[in-house]
Amino acid sequence: MSAERANTSAQDPAETAVHAQPVPLQPIKTSWLESWRLMRQSYNSPLEHGQYLQQRYGNVVLQQLGRIKFVHMFGADANRLALLNPQQILSNKKSWDMIIGRIFPNGLMLRDGEDHRYHRRLMQAGFKSRAMQGYLTQMAPQVRQAIDAWPGAQHDNFLAFPAFKKMTLDLAATIFLGMALGKDASMMNRAFETAVAASMPRVPVPIPGNLLWRGIRARRTLCRFFLPQVAGKRAGNDQDLFALLCRAEDENGKGYTDQEIVDHIIFLMMAAHDTTTSTLTSMTYALAKNPEWQDKLREEVNNLDSRSSDHEQLSSMSQTEWVMKEALRLYPPLSTLPKYSNAEFEFEGHLIPAGAMVVTYPIHTHYMPAYWDQPTLFDPARFSPARAEQKRHGYSWVPFSGGAHMCIGLHFAEMQIKLVMREMLTHYSWQVAPGYTMPVQQSPISKPRDNLPIQLHRR
Ligand code: HEM
Repeated sequence: MSAERANTSAQDPAETAVHAQPVPLQPIKTSWLESWRLMRQSYNSPLEHGQYLQQRYGNVVLQQLGRIKFVHMFGADANRLALLNPQQILSNKKSWDMIIGRIFPNGLMLRDGEDHRYHRRLMQAGFKSRAMQGYLTQMAPQVRQAIDAWPGAQHDNFLAFPAFKKMTLDLAATIFLGMALGKDASMMNRAFETAVAASMPRVPVPIPGNLLWRGIRARRTLCRFFLPQVAGKRAGNDQDLFALLCRAEDENGKGYTDQEIVDHIIFLMMAAHDTTTSTLTSMTYALAKNPEWQDKLREEVNNLDSRSSDHEQLSSMSQTEWVMKEALRLYPPLSTLPKYSNAEFEFEGHLIPAGAMVVTYPIHTHYMPAYWDQPTLFDPARFSPARAEQKRHGYSWVPFSGGAHMCIGLHFAEMQIKLVMREMLTHYSWQVAPGYTMPVQQSPISKPRDNLPIQLHRR
């Protein structure tokens, strides 16, 4: 796309009428000290950062940091524009390449336009209902076993976050890669964890021994592990996600190259694992703080018809789904979504420059009183059909993003989360210490700073 101005006003005709003469957005003026404070705040608490900027400067804020321009955009209309991305005004590739491109190059999220559409269409092979049914059949007993192996009668300081992390990694090894748990899977999990830890390093240059250097080596280990398996997976009949990607073809019988498959599977493991772990952790915390909801969900689970299939059981766990949605509202694993402007474009009467990092804030929108009743309150019934607060605006609840890059694994995530919750609620009750508040690190992926210690009681 050329660097001339894109006409995004077609998005909302009412808006064009009000803002007939869009004006170039001017950078905010801040001292060095204030810029430093804002940068720290953006990393430590994107919610506070977004609320501060939006209250002080409005829905669109341009910040110039050295040669880099950041444009912060707030509200559900901003989400709609950035996610629907008319005329490809925004690039996912350019923003994500800068952030995680050294460790996760060429992942689906790091592609744009026709190239992205093509790769996404092929990837659907791994997410069709037959494939999902296969994952579910395999995953259900494994989740049961994993939770059964948790502590016996009582544990007063059980760290929920690492327990979920281990479980989702093990599940990824078997369901995504078709591996048996054992030495190879442990080696692969370790390399993978090193790669993820290094994906957003504070020091963006590899120096022997530092985080990025170790991450690049771990990625090489993963590539060396996966590449030789591609030919066998292509020729075979395995039904794991890796195998399905190896055999995915377009209408002309063309599929991914070997290296593309490896890039996709490494990215998928990352995309699936930390986000699901984060959601399970925040649900566990919310259910500990709100025991009446824990009781409600346990009743829902106890009333499931044991003669019905896993799929039917999960589909009928509607209150569990509200709790999941509410946890994703309050603690979205990705609190901000970065894009990069290919062209100058218009939003709410402002001209936003080309060549800027454009950041939208799911977490900020999720706390806006314009869309949610008492937004800081944990109130899962807001997602019930009777209240359906998320329908007040199509882009007010965006933990899975939207538009062309909307999370391809959202149904997989929901399935895994419900399976884990079903087993947890059946086998355990849990609580947190009186007065405990989970210290949340919101960025880069939401997680508890203290691993979420809970008191676990076997039922
Ligand atoms: C609760 C769990 C999850 C959350 C909150 C989540 C969130 C997201 C978000 C916000 C994006 C879009 C980023 C953007 O707009 O640039 C995304 C993309 C993606 N997610 Fe997820 N995700 C979750 C689970 C999963 C799982 C389980 C998988 C795989 C099985 C997965 C695979 C992907 C892929 C491949 C993309 C890129 C899609 C594209 O660019 O077309 N995610 N996810």
